[in-house]
Amino acid sequence: MVRSTPLILKAEGRECRLETAEAFTTERARELTRGRRGLILMDRNFEPEAGAWREAFPGFTVMFPSVAGEAAKSLEEAARVLEALAAHSLNRDDWLIARGGGSVTDLGGFCAGLYQRGLKLGLIPTTLLGAVDAAVGGKTAVNFAGAKNQLGHFYLPRFVLADLPAIRALPEARLAEGLAEAYKTGLLFDPRLSAMVEGWAGEPGGLAEIIRRSVHAKAALVAQDFREEKGLREVLNLGHTFGHVAESFYSGLSHGRAVALGLAVMAQLSRAHGLDDAEAGRITSVARRLGGPWPASLSAEEFYRRLKADKKNRGGRPRFIVLKAPQQPEVIEAAPEEIWSAAVEVLGE
Ligand SMILES: NC(=O)c1ccc[n+]([C@@H]2O[C@H](COP(=O)([O-])OP(=O)(O)OC[C@H]3O[C@@H](n4cnc5c(N)ncnc54)[C@H](O)[C@@H]3O)[C@@H](O)[C@H]2O)c1
Ligand SMILES: [Zn+2]
Repeated sequence: MVRSTPLILKAEGRECRLETAEAFTTERARELTRGRRGLILMDRNFEPEAGAWREAFPGFTVMFPSVAGEAAKSLEEAARVLEALAAHSLNRDDWLIARGGGSVTDLGGFCAGLYQRGLKLGLIPTTLLGAVDAAVGGKTAVNFAGAKNQLGHFYLPRFVLADLPAIRALPEARLAEGLAEAYKTGLLFDPRLSAMVEGWAGEPGGLAEIIRRSVHAKAALVAQDFREEKGLREVLNLGHTFGHVAESFYSGLSHGRAVALGLAVMAQLSRAHGLDDAEAGRITSVARRLGGPWPASLSAEEFYRRLKADKKNRGGRPRFIVLKAPQQPEVIEAAPEEIWSAAVEVLGE
């Protein structure tokens, strides 16, 4: 079997193996769990594969959220999973394996940390966004009271196994969403990674390396600040200040495409903070290729209103991550007008 050397994320005295399955995901998952019993929570999209997983994991129950994607991140779905764990009398020595996009891995992690104060968790991300971002870092969540990620905790899985065969089957637009997050990580920490994303033209070999490098960079940061107490994870918000506003404004704009837009706006704003015009231009055009085109219907007033409403932007001057140069992030307090004029550069008047 082909597989890369694992990375180990250590946090709070625990270890999480981070691997990519180039093929035979089921087989590798079975080797990693070596457990007799457990529950496999899979995205609804994989219902046709349930039989193969049941066969590979005889002591395990396979279940699906009643809805696909983001809608599965609810307390009601969490209750269904927790009830299933209890109904099968699973305990802390048993496993919960969550296989799907970020929605299913967030939901699975949420339940695994709660049930009997934590059973063994394995995450198998099947989207590129899940593999490079959502499944890495120990954050779990469900949406609650109308707010995204309102309930959650930090809970480290035993392993994260990126499901490359499933990821390769994603439509290009879905891959681009994950590439936008990988690009962000490269711009922050790894020039080779950002160059790979810039040059990626669909070659299958490239994806495994993009995942490996993204995971490596994010895991290294998370290991230093697992519970986000030192503020070190804040730079991961690169591209997300404007991105979050855009995501809330344009209905149907995915998180990844909104982040791509946010990265373009960040690049323009960064020119006043030392970033080379040529670099800014390059980042903007790569971001546009990954996430564009973006409609230009957002107005300045609407932008200011939404910026204020974002829970992360307390006070009048939101914290904003700029790049003084590639791989040199800096947290600044930006004037909303400064962010807006950078956005106008990208979106047009
Ligand atoms: N915990 C974290 O640190 C963290 C970080 C980033 C994002 N997230 C969360 O991740 C979620 C987004 O995750 P996502 O982008 O992976 O989307 P998703 O999990 O919502 O899945 C999107 C759609 O893709 C389908 N799908 C999943 N895998 C597929 C495959 N291989 N082939 C075809 N279809 C497939 C799903 O059924 C769903 O319809 C958000 O809820 C976000 O909050 C969490
Ligand atoms: Zn993001």
